[in-house]
Amino acid sequence: MNQKSFTSKEFAATARKKGCNMKSLVYFFSNTGHNEILAQELQKYVPSELEKIKDYEKRNFFRDSFYALIQKKVRIEPPINDINNFERIFFVTPIWAGNFPAPVSTLLKQFKDQFSGKELYLVSVSGYGEKNIKIVQKFKKLTGADPKDFLLIGDDELKERKFENKLQKFAAKITGE
Ligand SMILES: Cc1cc2nc3c(=O)[nH]c(=O)nc-3n(C[C@H](O)[C@H](O)[C@H](O)COP(=O)(O)O)c2cc1C
Repeated sequence: MNQKSFTSKEFAATARKKGCNMKSLVYFFSNTGHNEILAQELQKYVPSELEKIKDYEKRNFFRDSFYALIQKKVRIEPPINDINNFERIFFVTPIWAGNFPAPVSTLLKQFKDQFSGKELYLVSVSGYGEKNIKIVQKFKKLTGADPKDFLLIGDDELKERKFENKLQKFAAKITGE
């Protein structure tokens, strides 16, 4: 069957019918909204809870880059959902200074033990998209686990809405479509 003929609603409905009932949680962090858009799009394909990672810092390009670079531990709002209730977790995040934004690396480190043994996925919209492949190794360093799969989208792909195919393929592997 040609997957391209599916709308995201149909896709999610089919995934549910096929017994894709693994409980999924999508954590996202987003400053200018790109990763929030992608997290919402992902949720259309993979039935899941959506949770925003929030910190208390005022955004500042240089400080944010520096904190990302040194993986500074920052104060984040406590997670709302109980991680133990989920078997599959997505992290949707921008890339800052070649690294995870500090609120994201803080979450990954802080809850590393609870993420252990679950199906983890890394999704990112960033300036350089797929060129940021090194972020996958950094994910492993922080969590101790490889993501089961990852999806790296560039800002230009998002703006021109050229990510649909990639996202659909990524979701299809997960839901078994
Ligand atoms: C502080 C800062 C540092 C950034 N550093 C990088 C980088 O090193 N590599 C990259 O590809 N994009 C970088 N970007 C671009 C963002 O990753 C990109 O615009 C992303 O889509 C923003 O996501 P958001 O709208 O969800 O916040 C940086 C943006 C900011 C604000």
